Parts: sequence; structure tokens; C-alpha cells
Amino acid sequence: MEPSPAALLPLAALLLGVPGSAPRDRPALNADNLLLITAATEQTEGYERFMHTARYFNYTVKTLGLGEEWRGGDVARTVGGGQKVRWLKEEMAKHAEREDLVVMFVDSYDVVLAGGPVGLLRKFLAFESRVVFSAEGFCWPEWGLAERYPPVSTGKRFLNSGGFIGFAPAVHRVVQRWKYKDDDDDQLFYTHIYLDPGLREKFGLALDHKSKIFQNLNGAIDEVVLKFERNRVRARNVAYDTLPVVIHGNGPTKLQLNYLGNYIPNRWTYEGGWGGRDLSGPPEAALPRVLVGVFIEQPTPFLPQFLQRLLGWAYPYARLGLFLHNREVFHEPHVQEAWERLRGAFAHIKLVGPEEELSQGEARDMAMDICRQDPDCDYYFTLDADVALTNPGTLRALIRQNRKVIAPMVSRPGKLWSNFWGALSPEGYYARSEDYVELVQGKRTGVWNVPYISQAYLVRGETLRSELHDRSVFTLEETDPDMAFCKNVRERGIFLHITNLEEFGHLVSTAPYNTSRRHPDLWQISENPLDWQEKYIHENYSRVLRGELVQQPCPDVYWFPVLAEPACDELVQEVEHYGIWSGGQHKDARLAGGYENVPTDDVHLQQVGLEGAWLVFLREFIAPVAEALYPGYATQARALLNFVVRYRPEQQPALRPHHDSSTFTINIALNSKGTDYEGGGCRFLRYSCSVTAPRKGWSLMHPGRLTHFHEGLPTTRGTRYIMVSFVDP
Ligand SMILES: *[C@@H]1O[C@H](CO)[C@@H](O)[C@H](O)[C@H]1NC(C)=O
Ligand SMILES: *[C@@H]1O[C@H](CO)[C@@H](O)[C@H](O)[C@H]1NC(C)=O
Ligand SMILES: *[C@@H]1O[C@H](CO)[C@@H](O)[C@H](O)[C@H]1NC(C)=O
Repeated sequence: MEPSPAALLPLAALLLGVPGSAPRDRPALNADNLLLITAATEQTEGYERFMHTARYFNYTVKTLGLGEEWRGGDVARTVGGGQKVRWLKEEMAKHAEREDLVVMFVDSYDVVLAGGPVGLLRKFLAFESRVVFSAEGFCWPEWGLAERYPPVSTGKRFLNSGGFIGFAPAVHRVVQRWKYKDDDDDQLFYTHIYLDPGLREKFGLALDHKSKIFQNLNGAIDEVVLKFERNRVRARNVAYDTLPVVIHGNGPTKLQLNYLGNYIPNRWTYEGGWGGRDLSGPPEAALPRVLVGVFIEQPTPFLPQFLQRLLGWAYPYARLGLFLHNREVFHEPHVQEAWERLRGAFAHIKLVGPEEELSQGEARDMAMDICRQDPDCDYYFTLDADVALTNPGTLRALIRQNRKVIAPMVSRPGKLWSNFWGALSPEGYYARSEDYVELVQGKRTGVWNVPYISQAYLVRGETLRSELHDRSVFTLEETDPDMAFCKNVRERGIFLHITNLEEFGHLVSTAPYNTSRRHPDLWQISENPLDWQEKYIHENYSRVLRGELVQQPCPDVYWFPVLAEPACDELVQEVEHYGIWSGGQHKDARLAGGYENVPTDDVHLQQVGLEGAWLVFLREFIAPVAEALYPGYATQARALLNFVVRYRPEQQPALRPHHDSSTFTINIALNSKGTDYEGGGCRFLRYSCSVTAPRKGWSLMHPGRLTHFHEGLPTTRGTRYIMVSFVDP
């Protein structure tokens, strides 16, 4: 005879602390009365995650099977798992007589714990059964057995063996019945016992229909929501209003478990989660060796800046190798220009150019395999040309997290476009997770387990040589190489992480990029404002806004740095490339109509297609200066005339006195006096005051009409270029 529920009372009373029935010297609800048993042959990241949650709640855990060969079949795809029962049978023999012991068995790779032992014991005792199995809505692996299950009014009807809890002697007696093969199905074994009314009664078996303890996610995703408490996060089953203790990502719900596992039990990934790696210890010369794979797969704005940034990392370059795939003929001069510097810095370097006609996936496979085949390669870091990695400490920050795969989060400035997905659609494409916006905007920071990363990530060399040993990681199937990579990694049970614990940089937009221009970056002011500013705006411009550096060489004539050298040079090259100068003649009716009363030898930005970008420049960089220097004047920085003027002794060396058709005018020197030309400058007649030493990239700003009647002083040698805008005509 099995003990009746009444016979359970001594232990129940002990655990619940019923007055008078428990020895007074033993604490009630003692977690020492609970043993958590799990099975794992390898310490996968799923296992590490499970163990982290178990340690968090101070469970006593026994892991069966570590280091043993798995012979329980491919349970992800088919039936199997019998090996787990064999191990448990051996283990339970040790506890067969322990009436005071409660044993809970759960899987580990796809399980997280969301509650502690005390609450768990209380919930278990409330079942008043000897053994409680988890339940789910699918009858697996034999659908035909469904009708033999007792009906339930509410809740899940069918047994799932991924989790059960019971008194040690009862669990022992159940698993004693196992006499099958390792790849026979464990769930079918328990199901047959449960479905036999005699055995069900004899062993005191019950199912947790309403997820009081066990939450199987398969078929129940919509029932589970995160519940943020002050010190921890739990999963609430909103269908049954329960707070389950064991969350099991069974069947196709691994990704949902990864999502919940980012928060349960306590935002555990926050600041490193399990086991970061300390890089302050080893000397620089002993830091991990990293192969950096750089991919230029499409015309990409600001590539020279990208290549230059590769040289500024806070990492010993003797420990870094470089593989560079450039698929674009357009970028060959850029790569050529940076090549010697890159070669001088990296320990070893390999270039694969467009002539090799490798597909993106083939190139990525090739680079990754170089690290895989080299036992000294500790990490492989892949970086696409559209990632502006402005944090020089990125590599160290990623290595410190000590993960198999981890990406630095980067996004388009001010946009929600980033290098990760928070969720997958059923077809395997992008889906927005509930927390996506918070993560991209940095409102929640941490290390996050996500289903998809791209453009920049670090992979452990050891992982490439073991779990990811197949060379074709990126060229699997007909899909996009990054999707192929992520799918491959996910299917091997490896977690894809992204960290937003620091600012790492941003993504460059490659969308409208016209490579038939000479300097297409000049047009990128709206599409890639950060990069445009970094390249084209004078490094001391920000000081101008703080009221520093501004000079006043003549009354109400201000002078300040605004354009960086590349802006000056590229503007000149663009208009010279266009090559049709007005020769001091009126060019069209609008210009002849009075705006340009003293015609210069010029090219208008409208003629080279740059006017739109220039108006943005006026609004973003000139208007704030004008409003600061002429208090009370609000400008929208409208301008119909924006043109580059060319002065040459033999053509049009000077300009006779005139007013401008503007409220104020800016006049930016585009080249250097002394090296490029002699003479030049501007004279304001009313004040008898001249600016005769123009500085490249500096702008003059002066009122256009009435007071500032002015002339262009003669250029006596070479060619002088200035950029002029008549603002607010
Ligand atoms: C686990 O045990 C430690 C040490 O006794 C204690 O500080 C901690 O609060 C316990 N954790 C939980 C979740 O009860
Ligand atoms: C691209 O640039 C070329 C050369 O400057 C120009 O003719 C063409 O209109 C541009 N295309 C677009 C879509 O802007
Ligand atoms: C910016 O200002 C600093 C300090 O005054 C100066 O050394 C530097 O040359 C300036 N940069 C440029 C590009 O003129």
C-alpha cells in the first residue's frame, strides 16, 4: 500500500511548520529537503543559464550525465531521451528510503527557474500528490493516446516529462520501471504509467494542469507575460493567474525562452551575467589573438574614415590579424591609400579584391575559416564597412564578456535601425520584440540573448573549431549570409548576444549613394549627418558655438572656422570637374533678374546638384552662428544663390564694389593664401577696413545690404576659390 495523503502529514507538517506536529528544532520549509536533479552531457550556454538561475535561488543541484556521450537520440527533432531516465533510475536508488526528501527533475538546456525552493515546496505540497508532472496542450509523442487522458475542465491536459517533482521514494518507484533503450522515448514511458489508472493511483501521480509549478511554453506563449517586481522578474501565466517556478522552452519555443531568460529571475545578463573575463591581469603581449575580418560588400559612404578607424583601437596590434574583402571597384583607391598603414600595423594581413569575384557569403566563410584553422586564433571579429566603430575599446569590451558569440550594439543615429533583431517571425525574418525600442535607445542596458545579429560581432575561435566546425556557415541555403550564420549558430544551441552596456558607434546608411559623383560623401549630410560632420566640419567649430574663436576684423564682420579641409578640397574638385564657369557673365534670366548685380566667374551649387545638401549645411551650421552673433535675428537660412567663385589674375582677379542681395552673406575661403595664390581678400568701403589674410575653411559673415558695401581685392598669383551664399535674400 502506498501511504495515503494522511500519511504524508508528518513531512507536510514539517515543511509547512504546522504547530505541534514538527520537531521544534527543525526549520519549517527547509530548502535542504529539496534536491533539484537535471541532465546534461555538455555544459552548453543553456546549461550555464539554467545553473545561474539555480544558484541564484540557492537550489541544491545534482547534474546527471556530464561528460558522458549522449545516446538519447535527437530529441529536438524526434523522440528519444530514455538515457535521462536510466541516469535518474541510478540516482534515485540512492534516495529510495528518504521519505523526507523532495526531488524535482527538470531539463536544463531549455529551462530557467523563476522562483525559489521554499515557494516551490509549498506549491508542491498543496497538490497533495506523491509526484506531479508538468502538463501541456499537445499529446506527444503518440497523439492517439489523447483520448485515454482524464478530461480536465480548465488547464492543459497532457503530460510533459521535461519537469516533475515528487517525494524521493515515489519517484524512485516510478523510474524503477524503466527497462528500455537509451533512445526510447522518456515522455512515452511516463505517459504510459500515468495513463494506467491503477499505477496513477498507486504512485499518487498528478499533472500540473494550470502551470502552478511548471510552465511549458509550447502552445502557451501568449499565456505568459513578464512581471517586474522590485528585486526580481517572474513569469506570470495570465490564463490561470499563476506564477510558475520552472519555465521550459520546449518544442519550437527556444527563442521565447531566450527572451524571457534575459529577464528571469533578475535581469541576470545585466553587467556580465555569468562569468566575465578579466583583461586587466595579463600583460598586453598576452591578450587574446584576434583575426579581424573586414567586409566592404557595397558602395559605402565615408570608407576612408572607416579604414582609418581600424588603426585606432586600444589593443596591441601585434595580437591582431586582418582579412579584408573588398567587392567594390569604386573603393579600390581607398583601400590602396590605406594599405601601407594597415600593413604596418597588423601582425598579418590579407586582401581579397573585387577581381576574385567572391560572393559575400564565400568571402565570409573564407575569413572565418582562417581563424578556425589556426589553433592560435582565440577570436574572430567580423566588421562590415557600414559600421562606424568609434569606441576604440570595443574589442576589449566584447572579449571581457566571455561569450561564444557577442555583438556590440550599433544603430542608425536617431533611428530604430540596428544590427540585431529582438525576435523572429515564424518565417525566420525580422519581428519586433517587446523590448526592442528600449534596447536600441539604451533605456535598458545589458547583455542580451537575441535571435539575430549582423555587421559586427566576435566569435570564439574554440567555438569555430568545435560546434561551428563546418566551413560553410554563411553559404547555407539560398538565404542572406548573416541569416544563414545566425540560423546555424542558433541550431547548435549557441546563444547570440548583443551588448549595449557601452556606446560602441553607429551604423552608416548606404542607401542613396551615387558613386558616379567624384565625392559622393559631400551629398550625405542628411543621410549620415554624424559622419558628414566628422569629415567636413572644422574640428574647432564647436568652440565657435561656445562663443570662442570668433573674430571681428571689421565692424559687424565676423570670421570663424566652419569647414574642414576635405570639404574645401572636394567642393573645388566638384565644381572644377563640372568645369562650366560663367566667365563673369549672367547665366540665366533668374540670375540676370537683379540678384547677381555684379557677376562673378562662378559655378552655382545648383549646377552640380549640391544645392540641397548645402541648404541643410546653412541651416545646421550657419544659422546658429548668425543668430548668436546678430542677437534678435531669427533666420531660416534660405538662400537662392550659393556659388563657388574663382579669381585668377588673368581672368577675373577682383570684383568691383557692390551690395549683396542678402540679409547676410557668408564667404568661405576654399584654399590657402601663400600656397595656392597671392593677393585676394575683401574690403568694406564704409569702414575702410579689409580682410586680407583669408584662412582656408574660415567663413566671413557680414550684412549684405546698406552698410557693408564691399569689393573683392585682386588675386595676383594662382587661383583663389571662395564659397559664397546670400542668406535670406
Ligand atoms: C541565497 O543564499 C545567500 C547566502 O545565504 C543569501 O544571501 C541569498 O539571499 C539567497 N538567495 C535567495 C534568492 O534567497
Ligand atoms: C548621380 O550622379 C551623376 C553624376 O554627377 C548625375 O548625373 C546623376 O543625376 C546622379 N543620380 C542621381 C540619382 O542623383
Ligand atoms: C583647433 O584649435 C587648436 C587649439 O587652438 C589648434 O591647435 C588646432 O590647430 C585647431 N585646428 C585647426 C584645424 O585649425
